[in-house]
Amino acid sequence: MQNCQELAAGLYYLGGNDRRLALFESAYPVPRGVSYNAYLLKDEKTVLFDTVDIAVGDFFFDNLACALGEDKLDYVVVQHMEPDHSATFARLLERYPDVTVIASQKAAVMLKNYFGYTGKAYLVKEGDTLSIGKRTLTFIGAPMVHWPEVLFTYVPEEGFLFSADAFGTFGALAGNVIAEKDVFAAEYLDDARRYYFNIVGKYGVQVQSVLKKAAGLKISMVCPLHGPIWKDDFAWYLEKYLIWSAYKPEEKCVAVFYASVYGHTQNAAEILASAIGAEGVRVKVFDVSVTHPSELLSEAFRCSHAVFASTTYNNGIFVNMENFLNDLKAHNYQNRAYAIVENGSWAPQAGSLMDGILAGLKNMRRIGEKTTVLSAVNASSREALVTLGKQIAEDVKA
Ligand code: FEO
Repeated sequence: MQNCQELAAGLYYLGGNDRRLALFESAYPVPRGVSYNAYLLKDEKTVLFDTVDIAVGDFFFDNLACALGEDKLDYVVVQHMEPDHSATFARLLERYPDVTVIASQKAAVMLKNYFGYTGKAYLVKEGDTLSIGKRTLTFIGAPMVHWPEVLFTYVPEEGFLFSADAFGTFGALAGNVIAEKDVFAAEYLDDARRYYFNIVGKYGVQVQSVLKKAAGLKISMVCPLHGPIWKDDFAWYLEKYLIWSAYKPEEKCVAVFYASVYGHTQNAAEILASAIGAEGVRVKVFDVSVTHPSELLSEAFRCSHAVFASTTYNNGIFVNMENFLNDLKAHNYQNRAYAIVENGSWAPQAGSLMDGILAGLKNMRRIGEKTTVLSAVNASSREALVTLGKQIAEDVKA
């Protein structure tokens, strides 16, 4: 049965929630579920913005039929071809065979590759416009936010911005589809940050580019493909995107990441964290073998400072720490201060190897020398860890 909501005169929310999905993109845990959003704008012509993931297809088609009423569907704008938004495209064409498909050139190629679709598509590019009656669709190219074919659509008469994956978040919607800043900060922000850095974080330059294009627009409502819709509080969320996409730290704080086999490197990490905390600096500690890599990545980007502490393993970095560092590198981790702690019982060398990865990233600054623990923390290494902790805290407060 339909559950569509009218967001504004003639604009309908048609999406649905999946609270059973274990891993989004087969990679990211979504314990709070995820929403797949789609929208219908009714004017002299009717326009659908994207379809949905197969998991919520039945709800979506009920919602679409309800929102259309007696009207026919004139256009579907394919803003993003990733299957969480396009999987039900073929079903849409079966139900609405006369609909005109609007897509970028790159999306048209993907429609053929995914669905064998060779029908006529109305190809649009940056700056193209299409009148649908009293309103106009203006298309904004948003390549690599998050795939190369992505389009945003802006409706200047109303200030509606359909933003594809941008400004989306993990987390199902629960009746309140319009974002409220305080609720979002408490219930969605950590997921939004994790979504951003893991899904589109690699493409900060491209995100900045499209944010510049959007900066001059008068926006009354932002309609993303996941998560709540933004109205009055959008400036607050936009500010987060400006910080995230510029790879700037969101908070002056320290994230201590450790990889420990028998607990001795953990002990070193916690001594260090206590020394930082004793100076009144915010610090969090993560076992990289326990916390999901998507959360580690998100926390690394949130904080201004990081400590990487690893035991030496197979003559190298412990595997979960090495994977994490490579993940940071793949997501363009940069502009941070960091410190290194290593452990080793006969030939410690994780520190030099970790430093080799981190020092190769853009604008990274190491604090202090690497601190070495030989098997277990002793009085000497404890003193070195406390000294390093104070040094890090001073740097955070500077
Ligand atoms: Fe929500 Fe890039 O798809």
